Amino acid sequence: MPDHDRTMPPSLISGHEWLLEGAPDNQIPAHGVEPLVAMRVIDEEIVLDGIPERNLATFVTTWMEPEAQQVIAANLHRNFIDHAEYPRTAEIEQRCIRMLASLFNAPGETTGARTQGSSEAIMLGALSLKWKWRQRREAAGKPTDKPNMVFGGDVHVVWDKFCRYFDVEPRIVPLQPDKFTIGPEDVEPHVDENTIGVAAVLGTTFTGHSDDIGAINDLLVTIKNDRGLDVPLHIDAASGGFVWPFLYPDSEWDFRLEQVRSINVSGHKFGGVYPGIGWLVFREQADLAEDLVFYENYLGKRDATFTLNFSTGSAMVLAQYYNLIRLGRDGYTLVMEVMKKNSEFLAGRLESIGPFEVVGDDAEQLPLVAFHLAADADVPYDEFDIAWQVSAERGWMLPAYTMPPKAESVKMLRALVKINLNRALVSTLADDIAQACETLEKKGGASKHERQRVKTGVGY
Ligand SMILES: Cc1ncc(COP(=O)(O)O)c(C=O)c1O
Repeated sequence: MPDHDRTMPPSLISGHEWLLEGAPDNQIPAHGVEPLVAMRVIDEEIVLDGIPERNLATFVTTWMEPEAQQVIAANLHRNFIDHAEYPRTAEIEQRCIRMLASLFNAPGETTGARTQGSSEAIMLGALSLKWKWRQRREAAGKPTDKPNMVFGGDVHVVWDKFCRYFDVEPRIVPLQPDKFTIGPEDVEPHVDENTIGVAAVLGTTFTGHSDDIGAINDLLVTIKNDRGLDVPLHIDAASGGFVWPFLYPDSEWDFRLEQVRSINVSGHKFGGVYPGIGWLVFREQADLAEDLVFYENYLGKRDATFTLNFSTGSAMVLAQYYNLIRLGRDGYTLVMEVMKKNSEFLAGRLESIGPFEVVGDDAEQLPLVAFHLAADADVPYDEFDIAWQVSAERGWMLPAYTMPPKAESVKMLRALVKINLNRALVSTLADDIAQACETLEKKGGASKHERQRVKTGVGY
């Protein structure tokens, strides 16, 4: 008889051994268990994870309507790539792309792709920039061995990844302690004939503001006219692409600007869909390098694919379409306005609580509050201590981080105000931050061990 059978209380029904032995971990168990047991093993373990609704760090959707969840649950078994079998799902993807292209003011017929998120969209968009640059150079009989890409230190890490994975020199404009976005004066010295493109951010990960996209576009137009260099502009609108068109419709950052050739947006951020959906939209069909499109007929029909992955779910594509038609332009506007008003309310409360400075709350911004202790704050704690204390006392996941080079002397706290953070919750959050500061005042900051557990992740 195995040891555990001797120690197992007789009442313990077979399959429940994990209650005493722990969950299977290193090996696939020799024998299966009842579905209910498997479900309990998982459910009981993940209660130790944070509660997504209290995650103030993530840009990604943590609440969808029950009807949307029904659409998702009913379509988990549909492989998106299988266009021959699921042609209506493929058509729905195309509708989403057309709707986004029109939202971003594309001048005419265009093309794009559904992706896993903005990271895949950026890799694909930037690859197209590299291929198009190489074509232009080859046509002119010029070398193609030193491509570079220009962007600011305010970009998401995916841009560094693209450059490393695909062998492009990153020309990164550093930030400054009082300047967290970039403009034309930063870009200008870095652009040359080997620049495959410039990337600008609409809604940065660090403070939610926008690069000076209009002026960067003007610079690139001037460079085109004066030096004959046609340098395309890609807009990383991972978060901002669903915010700016509704909150700041007159602000020009999209295809209304001449040099903007491609835009990425995360459907799973302010598009309001659960994780697993992003979009890449080109200005016109010719902006997608034809060499990057693969044609295959594995699945019963000749099909064009332009993705880094192959098989993937359809559910989030359908959920994106659900949101687009369920909310419409007025619904999205309402959602964005609610989040903006609640973030303004939170910013106001924070300024009244203590020695906090809210960063750039008078500028166009994502619905979030980026804040830090004022330079002259005379307190025995810092931003990292606050992040720890508010998570220890109330379970809020509030990230603390230092800004990218050369603004790393600035510490930041950032609270996303998404649609599930209603006024009562925002108000409670402000009270909880005030309480955490009071505790820290008394205890004189967090311990070394506590500080090691602070949430510092910035971009997701
Ligand atoms: C500006 C920006 N770009 C790209 C990304 C990556 O997006 P995803 O998580 O959709 O891959 C993020 C994520 O937060 C982001 O904020």
